[in-house]
Amino acid sequence: MSPSQRPRRRRRSEPLRDLLRETRLAASDFVLPLFVAERNEEARPIAAMPGVVRHSLEGLDAECEAAAAAGVRGVLLFGVPAKKDAQGTGAADSEGIVPRAVRRIRALGLPLVVITDVCLCAYTDHGHCGVLANGEVANDATLERLAQVAACHAQAGADVVAPSAMMDGMVAALRSGLDAAGHSSLAILSYAVKYASAFYGPFREAAASAPQFGDRRGHQMDPANAREALLEARLDVEQGADMLMVKPALPYLDVVRDLRAQHPEVPLFAYQVSGEYSMIRAAGAAGYVDERAVALESLLSIKRAGADAILTYFAKEAASWLGR
Ligand code: PBG
Repeated sequence: MSPSQRPRRRRRSEPLRDLLRETRLAASDFVLPLFVAERNEEARPIAAMPGVVRHSLEGLDAECEAAAAAGVRGVLLFGVPAKKDAQGTGAADSEGIVPRAVRRIRALGLPLVVITDVCLCAYTDHGHCGVLANGEVANDATLERLAQVAACHAQAGADVVAPSAMMDGMVAALRSGLDAAGHSSLAILSYAVKYASAFYGPFREAAASAPQFGDRRGHQMDPANAREALLEARLDVEQGADMLMVKPALPYLDVVRDLRAQHPEVPLFAYQVSGEYSMIRAAGAAGYVDERAVALESLLSIKRAGADAILTYFAKEAASWLGR
């Protein structure tokens, strides 16, 4: 019997496939997360994230130049401070590691969007994302602190601030704090939908931000919930988020797709997190999969699901694999 429909006709040659391709990855889709350590040390490899290092302030220059040369469009900065305390005061210090890194990168004059992570977890001695009261993260007291952190990053010259603490009212608090400090044109990229994920494991080594007791399930989302993600996203848009993020990416492609449909007018980012990255690296190194092909296929899937931009530790390499 001869089939009446033959979709294979459209797949017969690479030029034809290229012509009909629905989704394309480009270097300009990527943002590279960078860790910068305050302690003056040589770039230090992160054991659980092969190929990723904690940079020194000076080491950022070459990394940012290489990222920009590869066509990557942005960097997301995480600070690893030398000192921590219960309040995470270092996070809002204008001489802290992140403001210094922002000023340094801005001085390079590269075509890179400088985004900063706004959270307290790397700055608190207990490793929680906010200030504590009765052993719990106190939402409203934390909001004030986060707004100060964002204003401090804005003052240093950040292009975008990305609050990741998953506190209620976080975007509104940042927006009013920024506006009051004269930063009304600074955009907020909200980690609106951030799951309490085991895929963050390697990152906590990189940023030295593991909670010293308990976990983050009281504020990050339950991996079982997708409808609740629509609520988180809607609240953030109402509070003035300029861009939204879903994190992690590959295990939550359904959520990426839902948000894309719910907020067609809002740019959507997805964060391919440390565990996603390290698994591909490890399987590649063991010879179980073709690392480059698997990395690119994962990134393509994230874009196909509806992400406009992807935060990925593969940014530089993926950009060069794609060629420019
Ligand atoms: C901090 C933060 C985390 C990540 C980004 N920002 C860790 C966490 O919530 O524990 C994870 C990123 C990654 O795993 O690559 N709030």
